[in-house]
Amino acid sequence: MIKKLSFSYKKDGRLNGCRLNLSKDILNFLSITEENNNIIFEYKNDEIILKYGKTLVEQEQKTENGKILLLIKNYKVKFDKVGKYKSPKLVIPLPIINSLGLTEEKKDVVITLLDDAVSIKPNVEGKVDRKGKVYTIKVNKGGVGKTFLTVQLSVGLSLIGKKVLILTSDSQNNVLDYTAPQEHKPIFDSGLKAFVKGEDGDIVRIRENVDFIPLEDSKFSTTFLNNLPKFIEKMKIEYDFVLIDSIPTMKLDTIFVECSDKVIIPCFCDRVTVEGVINVVEEAGIDKVFSIIVNKYRNTTNQNKYLNDLKNVLGETTILLPEPIKELSQIETLLEKGKSVWETNSKGLQEVQDSLIEVIKGM
Ligand SMILES: Nc1ncnc2c1ncn2[C@@H]1O[C@H](COP(=O)(O)OP(=O)(O)OP(=O)(O)O)[C@@H](O)[C@H]1O
Ligand SMILES: [Mg+2]
Repeated sequence: MIKKLSFSYKKDGRLNGCRLNLSKDILNFLSITEENNNIIFEYKNDEIILKYGKTLVEQEQKTENGKILLLIKNYKVKFDKVGKYKSPKLVIPLPIINSLGLTEEKKDVVITLLDDAVSIKPNVEGKVDRKGKVYTIKVNKGGVGKTFLTVQLSVGLSLIGKKVLILTSDSQNNVLDYTAPQEHKPIFDSGLKAFVKGEDGDIVRIRENVDFIPLEDSKFSTTFLNNLPKFIEKMKIEYDFVLIDSIPTMKLDTIFVECSDKVIIPCFCDRVTVEGVINVVEEAGIDKVFSIIVNKYRNTTNQNKYLNDLKNVLGETTILLPEPIKELSQIETLLEKGKSVWETNSKGLQEVQDSLIEVIKGM
């Protein structure tokens, strides 16, 4: 996240002090309370690291002209009273502010939550907080087009200037199959599990502004499941949208839905699938369902019956039901080539794009 430092000045205009207001998230993360407010302050390589607790070895190294190279010191988080409220803050020593090159004009810092510490760095790249929205694409039935729709919505969003991350609970990682021809399918060593552990995983750039974090396998430890929401929170700062291609995989799927702002449900117009859709609506809660997208639609008496049933039921809700996406051989051909529906001039796909645009507009 990006935060601004607050500077205070002496009467003669000289810098007097610098503080960083600490949000509840950061305090909770470091287990800091007004009673237990000890913090280890470390500075080196243009980065401040905060950890809860006390160090036995305080250290300081300076260059010949007094610039601080390294500082490890015990500090306390101060809880100032502001009206009725307590405002927790960290006072940052001025020599460190100088070493970091921070000034009134350049007072943005990037705060990153590490394993058991918090990193503070000057915002040299001019990063912005994005407050991304999370959507899970989910239905408890295979082959309905979860992965297809995840990819098309993601690429579509990127084309209107959004930065998108795709996650998945499916270790088959079909997103890679639908976005590159087989002979150019990207290979990866590690992905989501590594990231959640705090290690560097692979992020596959599948299009400009569309990243994909693959899933290594389907074995999930409790630690992984516990830490996953925190990781998704972090990703929301970096991306405008996080789309999750989700298969029913016990606990993981549930966590993905809990972390989502909304759920999108792909659907066939047949009895079994429509029943399955109703199950997901009940599971996720009707308020969480953003859209039900009929996919692989064929204009038959039977499908039209179920389509009408859906229209009637959803007509009374805020759930978006775009024009059904037809079952088209052109879609199969495109996916085989690793292309999206936005990357073709084929006339037949105009309708598919229109349905998806309806959805994207509401996202
Ligand atoms: N509208 C469509 N027209 C034609 N083929 C389609 C359409 N939508 C999806 N497909 C094809 O249907 C198959 C299943 O789609 P997809 O893989 O997206 O489903 P899924 O729900 O992710 O399946 P799984 O549960 O196996 O992950 C794919 O081979 C895809 O090419
Ligand atoms: Mg799939």
